Amino acid sequence: MVAGSEQPTIQDLGSLNFRTLRWVGDVDGVLHILDQTLLPDREQERVLSEPHQVIEAIQQLAVRGAPAIGVAAAYGLCLALRGCTQLEQLQAKLAETIPSMRTARPTAVNLHHMVDRMSSVAMEAASDDLGCQQFRERFLAEARAIEEEDQRYCRGIGESGAGLIAEGSTILTHCNAGALATTGTGTALSVLYSAWQKGTRFTVLADETRPLLQGSRLTAWELQRSGIPVDVICDGAAGSFFQQGAIDLVITGSDRIAANGDAANKIGTYSIAVLARAHEVPFYIAAPSSSFDLDIESGHEIPIEQRSADEIWSPMGQKQPLEGIGYRNPAFDVTPASHIAGWITELGILQPPFEEIRR
Ligand code: MRU
Repeated sequence: MVAGSEQPTIQDLGSLNFRTLRWVGDVDGVLHILDQTLLPDREQERVLSEPHQVIEAIQQLAVRGAPAIGVAAAYGLCLALRGCTQLEQLQAKLAETIPSMRTARPTAVNLHHMVDRMSSVAMEAASDDLGCQQFRERFLAEARAIEEEDQRYCRGIGESGAGLIAEGSTILTHCNAGALATTGTGTALSVLYSAWQKGTRFTVLADETRPLLQGSRLTAWELQRSGIPVDVICDGAAGSFFQQGAIDLVITGSDRIAANGDAANKIGTYSIAVLARAHEVPFYIAAPSSSFDLDIESGHEIPIEQRSADEIWSPMGQKQPLEGIGYRNPAFDVTPASHIAGWITELGILQPPFEEIRR
């Protein structure tokens, strides 16, 4: 267990007590993140005191999942102001840090939303003529508010979706959209936690999620701590489980949802959605309103992160790529709205157009 956890606990769910990240101290504080690159072998925090360390942690997936990287970025901008005593110095630090924080990863829109929100607070603070100390206090207060909001949204998503889980059912999920991907109880997994707390009993199938194994390393770890039964399957095995009628429902998270409902999520999600549709199994996206990007019409406009080829060839003891072989490693794909039964949010289960969220 990670120390200092007064957390988004999921009471009655066994020992799911960890903090994905936590700010320690006042305006001169530091950000602690649970280093997800080490899970499940080691539960170890990284202490980050510089914004570039937050950017690296986001890029390495030491902190990951759309909502969690939004919160980490907000605190990362607070780190840029550590030790600042002059307003000019503080403005210069922000101008230098904001663009690189905003683009640390391209697909999850939460990162952009939260960095933009912190930038607006900086502009307001400047126009209010705040002194350096007050500016930094207001900035940190906003980052804390973003974290609290994330936790509230997670609870709301759980409440909205819990009724979809039938007694004795089997739910397939892909990647990790759990507590580890947020600062609260997660999105897709929050629905499961909420249903479990209400007394519904079910089983989870977790896709291993190649290449970085968020399913077998993170979702399995987190569900096991909660006491919810989980079996990991190879990504390629999902079709066979659908064919046997062994999957009743699919719920995944999303990194960005366009105005028409198209939803980007971890690579492999679209394949699962196509399988679900072919086998008439409902496929739901669970995401907070902060993951919606209503400025874009469709999923075609969602930038898909391309990650290093090393992630493909390095597992299983292979030490070098085969010479002359190309590798392609898109980290996300887009599931068209036509394949999605509903979008589970803190505002309820929605259908496009998302007027509630726009309002
Ligand atoms: O590359 P990752 O591990 O950050 O990808 C995360 C996902 O795809 C999640 O499903 C998504 O961010 C939603 S998390 C609540």
